[in-house]
Amino acid sequence: MSDEFSNTVSHCQFRAESSVPPESIAADCLVVFVTEGAVTSGAAAEIDRATGGLLSTLSASGEITGKKYECVPLLVAPGIAARQLLVIGLGPRSGLDCGTLYRAAATATRHLSTRPRETVVLLADGAWTTRQVEQAVAGSAVGMIGQDLYRREKKRTQFRTTIWANAPQEAVTTGTMIADGVNLARRLVNTPPDDLYPQTFSEAAASIAGRTGMEIEIWDEHQLAKERCNAILAVGRGSSRPPRLVKLTYRGPGKATGLPDLALVGKGVTFDSGGLSLKPSDGMLTMKCDMSGAAAMLGAAATIAALRLPINLVTVCGLAENMTGPAAYKLGDVITARSGTTIEIHNTDAEGRVVLADVLDVVREMEPKRIIDAATLTGACMVALGHDVAGLFTNDQSWCDVLAAAAREVGEPVWQLPMYADYDEQIRSEVADIKNVGDGRWGGAITAAKFLERFVGNIPWTHVDIAGPAFAEKPQPWIDGGGTGVLVRTLVELARGPE
Ligand code: BES
Ligand code: MN
Ligand code: ZN
Repeated sequence: MSDEFSNTVSHCQFRAESSVPPESIAADCLVVFVTEGAVTSGAAAEIDRATGGLLSTLSASGEITGKKYECVPLLVAPGIAARQLLVIGLGPRSGLDCGTLYRAAATATRHLSTRPRETVVLLADGAWTTRQVEQAVAGSAVGMIGQDLYRREKKRTQFRTTIWANAPQEAVTTGTMIADGVNLARRLVNTPPDDLYPQTFSEAAASIAGRTGMEIEIWDEHQLAKERCNAILAVGRGSSRPPRLVKLTYRGPGKATGLPDLALVGKGVTFDSGGLSLKPSDGMLTMKCDMSGAAAMLGAAATIAALRLPINLVTVCGLAENMTGPAAYKLGDVITARSGTTIEIHNTDAEGRVVLADVLDVVREMEPKRIIDAATLTGACMVALGHDVAGLFTNDQSWCDVLAAAAREVGEPVWQLPMYADYDEQIRSEVADIKNVGDGRWGGAITAAKFLERFVGNIPWTHVDIAGPAFAEKPQPWIDGGGTGVLVRTLVELARGPE
């Protein structure tokens, strides 16, 4: 299994090219980005000139508008060495951000990857910041990979060579490394639950660790018992596939010692049937995505380590399959979590927080300076924020602000929800310290976060509920349906610190 998770864009070479004019590069296609209302401004002006005013003509006739993600293939274009020209809209020039560039570049390569291509040239604009070039490059490497894992006849082919014209080589290299993390997370999410379960996830993590120079520790069910991880074990008991905990350690250059600067914690429920509080079939269909938090953390850690960022990082994933087997944990059970806190189970479908209770305790013991956890935790968060926005919850406002700023920088939408102390009453239990659901369904994303808060001690912590954005049920112009790799770009940005 390990090799399947190796570098996802490895047979596709990316490079920068600034020494020759883009119109003179022989290629299957040249991709040019245009802005709304100013189709021939910036780098597009050069292509307009080279083609004898083709872009201005088509803009005047309304064939090219530059609206966001508009995709106009020009199969015959005079004056350029490439065999065709693809014009991608970016929307208005003012307010152009990294998220738009990421998606626009992905739209271009997703469109072109439906046929084999030797060489594709994408033209960066001199006005883009380094971060913007990086995110566009990342998008271009994400768009050409789709949902082909289990297809006999593949629908996409990665280009043999992708050339980013007008872009610094460093930004191209960094962008592809970011994409590797995103694509790794997507691949893990898209792998069906009968192939990806706690053990195989941990094997994938071991292969990533080997490749990127991280230390890895894997706790199997025996080690979990020794470590008193009764909560993880309880969730895993209904499955024939025992749970795992994966701990990855990365020490940045010049940081051989010292406590972790940052801990990443991921929910890795490799399949969530709901357990005895069984989900209806419709709601269960996509529940292979319930390890998206763990996948995002592994993808981010892999890129952070590959970039050799100067940070000490620990990444801990709690892996379990929530099933209904004869030993399954039951409603009314009281579990003593690793921290000693007792949890009364009111609903076995609220399993993510139970798993994370132990993972957070393991992390708390390591005394990191800050914690982030990512989890497809609640349907309630999707009710609150929809499909595209991740929910933020924190015990430390300034730490949450730092994370939100990183998300904004790379264009991943997030929105903070409150953590008022009053909500704590809702998870009070009649028989144990806490119960694993709130009173009724209202505010369910917040009561879940309140539950997690019990296990982080005084360490600044931000919880990210990615139930909405982790998985696209339908394809978008820039990405196939399935895992999105959400949060990887944000976490890498965060670990890099301000530009
Ligand atoms: N994994 C689900 C949350 C989820 C739902 C993620 C839809 C992605 C898409 C989680 O384990 C769950 O089942 N949560 C319950 C909690 C409830 C029982 C308190 C929910 O949201 O319904
Ligand atoms: Mn559940
Ligand atoms: Zn779940």
